[in-house]
Amino acid sequence: MAEIRIEKTAHPKEKPDSGNLSFGKYFTDHMFVMNYEKDKGWFDPRIVPFAPFEISPAAMVLHYAPEVFEGLKAYRRPDGSVQLFRPQENIARMNRSAERMCLPQIDPELFMEALLALVRTDSDWVPAGEDTTLYIRPFLFATDPKLGVHAPSMCTFAIILSPVGPYFPEGVNPVKIFIEKEDVRAVRGGTGFAKCGGNYAGSLRAGERAEANGFAQVLWLDGVEKKYVEEGGGMNIMFKIKDKVVTPALLGTVLPGITRKSVIEMLKSWNIEVEERLVTLEEILTGIKNGDVEEAWCCGTAAVISPIGEFATEDEQYTIGGFKSGPLALKLYHALTDLQFGRTEDSFGWTVRV
Ligand code: PLP
Ligand code: COI
Repeated sequence: MAEIRIEKTAHPKEKPDSGNLSFGKYFTDHMFVMNYEKDKGWFDPRIVPFAPFEISPAAMVLHYAPEVFEGLKAYRRPDGSVQLFRPQENIARMNRSAERMCLPQIDPELFMEALLALVRTDSDWVPAGEDTTLYIRPFLFATDPKLGVHAPSMCTFAIILSPVGPYFPEGVNPVKIFIEKEDVRAVRGGTGFAKCGGNYAGSLRAGERAEANGFAQVLWLDGVEKKYVEEGGGMNIMFKIKDKVVTPALLGTVLPGITRKSVIEMLKSWNIEVEERLVTLEEILTGIKNGDVEEAWCCGTAAVISPIGEFATEDEQYTIGGFKSGPLALKLYHALTDLQFGRTEDSFGWTVRV
């Protein structure tokens, strides 16, 4: 495996105040970069000062968008050391996303080595404030300077780091979600399961409309009938319906969230039944009205567990549990974050020390 070259910055930046980070606004001193050419494979893995890339105006990513990314976090433990949460899952998902976009695979061992080496290099950037973490953003894009529409043969893989606070200003307080009935995010056979930039580009219009009207996120429905609930803009969704937890099945259109997978495993370890299946919007809205839907929450790396207090359409509001964070969502939030931050023992073996 190629050795990672490290070139440290001569000008370390001033760190932001950890009480005022918001999400994805600040970046650390260094980044990981590695290049790919079809006949050479991956070469020159390096940690260098955080700086702009130079790419051709004809670079394929700027025209046809072959790009995939990941999102995970480094957590500061009470003893001051740092750990990651299920990084192997992000590595595997990035390679699945890359396969869909004809981008090259990355050796999982080298990927893990790059994550650990970069977080070690900038470990003093892992914040220690409550609910603060170092968000890790690996991404891979095609740089071929060619306008022909073909599978890429030149790529860059990079990892950048951003100290972050909660994604939603509401934190663990309930958010409002707008049920999007005009735009759609994904269809079967498309790219919904892949974490590719294009999925997010197509979601911006609906997201902006929802935000302008006071909503935290949109709820995406299936792209064909607009009958089934799929996921949030940047997070998966779950419902507590009577004594079960129900979440949309992974049928190619929904991103297979690592938080979703972890929550399902955690719920099952508590002997709570989880159903992964088709969920109609009708079932949810009727269930909210008659009280069968007792709780709803979003889950994701950025969102953690965010209770949902209200769903709305253009003309109707559906309030859940008196717009209070439900007990199961709160229990999950605490169990998950205690494990991620190393405040409890990791009986699942999910954490990796940096
Ligand atoms: N769904 C979408 C569209 C997302 O962007 C994310 C965030 O990564 C998720 C779900 C949740 O995935 P994870 O829990 O792996 O962060
Ligand atoms: C993440 O949770 O890592 C994401 O990529 C979601 C995005 C909305 C920030």
